[in-house]
Amino acid sequence: MNTHATESATAGSTLVAAPTIRYYAPGGVLFEIEGRIGDSVMETGVKNGVPGIVAECGGACSCATCHVYVDEASLELVGAPDDLEDDMLEGTASERLPNSRLSCQLRIQADFNGFTVHVAPEQI
Ligand code: FES
Repeated sequence: MNTHATESATAGSTLVAAPTIRYYAPGGVLFEIEGRIGDSVMETGVKNGVPGIVAECGGACSCATCHVYVDEASLELVGAPDDLEDDMLEGTASERLPNSRLSCQLRIQADFNGFTVHVAPEQI
């Protein structure tokens, strides 16, 4: 795995230009993918063949088929969902939990190295 450190650790998090995003697919298989800052967690997963992310609407926050559970240790890197995402999360096929997010609404940041999600088992 090739990551490029651009800045030293700040406040406990490491800033890198290509942070590694970790996806646990349904069934538990782990995918570790270098993300691009600004891309969504959804598009990065889909482009790299992570199974289980359907993303029917292509990232428009209108299908709820990109549902993931954000790992406890990664939750602090993302804020709360906005009102639109919050409404869409009411319609997920798998149970909504406190750490549920729509991965199309999660933009990769420099401090996302090691950001971990579990893809919801049912999307439709
Ligand atoms: S891809 Fe449709 S809501 Fe995320």
